[in-house]
Amino acid sequence: MKIGIIGTGSIGATLAQKLAAAGHQVKVTNTRQPDELAKKARELGVAPATLPEVVQDVDVVFVSIPLHAIPKLPAGLLRDLPPAVVVADTSNYYPQRDEKIDALENGQVESVWVAEQLGRPIVKAYNNILSQTLVAGGTAPGTPGRIAISVAGDDERAKQVVAALINDTGFDVVDAGSLADSWRQQPGTPAYCTELTAPELTQALANAVPGKAPQIRDQIIAQLTQRGTPPTREDLLALNRSLGM
Ligand SMILES: NC(=O)c1ccc[n+]([C@@H]2O[C@H](COP(=O)([O-])OP(=O)(O)OC[C@H]3O[C@@H](n4cnc5c(N)ncnc54)[C@H](OP(=O)(O)O)[C@@H]3O)[C@@H](O)[C@H]2O)c1
Repeated sequence: MKIGIIGTGSIGATLAQKLAAAGHQVKVTNTRQPDELAKKARELGVAPATLPEVVQDVDVVFVSIPLHAIPKLPAGLLRDLPPAVVVADTSNYYPQRDEKIDALENGQVESVWVAEQLGRPIVKAYNNILSQTLVAGGTAPGTPGRIAISVAGDDERAKQVVAALINDTGFDVVDAGSLADSWRQQPGTPAYCTELTAPELTQALANAVPGKAPQIRDQIIAQLTQRGTPPTREDLLALNRSLGM
């Protein structure tokens, strides 16, 4: 497939590398000058593109930038694409990073808000996997204990397209329902970055309790802020499992 990725951070860069390695035609963009972007794209084995170029002539666009940057994308960038183009959102809301957003503080589902900002339907995916897990946790289909990622959205075809890409990057897929249901995979829920198999993730999504996650998310951030050293994948996993599940 032809894939454009906005953002070459921990998630966007890893997705670019893995999707290109799986045989997809990938281009990326970020906020850097052309020479720096070209260097990054070369390192990832993909093509560099400007923001307008990255969404042109593609089957799928991944938006993988901090949530607070989403409303600042050019108006119409994604809204005006052909309806068949699948737009996938990897973002999460962290008020400590994104500044407080009233609608989200008042409980609006994060990806529903993102869809409103972008002006088009989206699929939520890859938001509930640690970047370290995305780098190193993928395995071949059928591997016992294969880690799963959930996808949420209102368009079944779009979800299937993204599900196939998730499989290509080494993970099983769980259908988490509509975009409105995607609060069940937001930060602080049992399904958030806890490295579960498909049956375990299905149960974790069902176990989410409305309104509980923001407090747990903030508790986790507070504990991480108190640490003197950056947490490892194991540290993050242990914390997410002990507080979130
Ligand atoms: N890190 C994780 O473990 C993880 C896991 C799941 C989901 N997520 C979510 O996925 C999203 C991305 O996370 P991340 O950790 O990959 O972020 P990150 O490492 O901070 O990278 C963000 C990327 O977005 C780019 N960017 C920002 N504004 C942009 C704009 N207007 N146009 C084009 N590119 C822009 C940045 O460009 P520059 O390189 O030029 O600065 C950078 O490449 C966030 O919402 C995050 O919460 C993160």
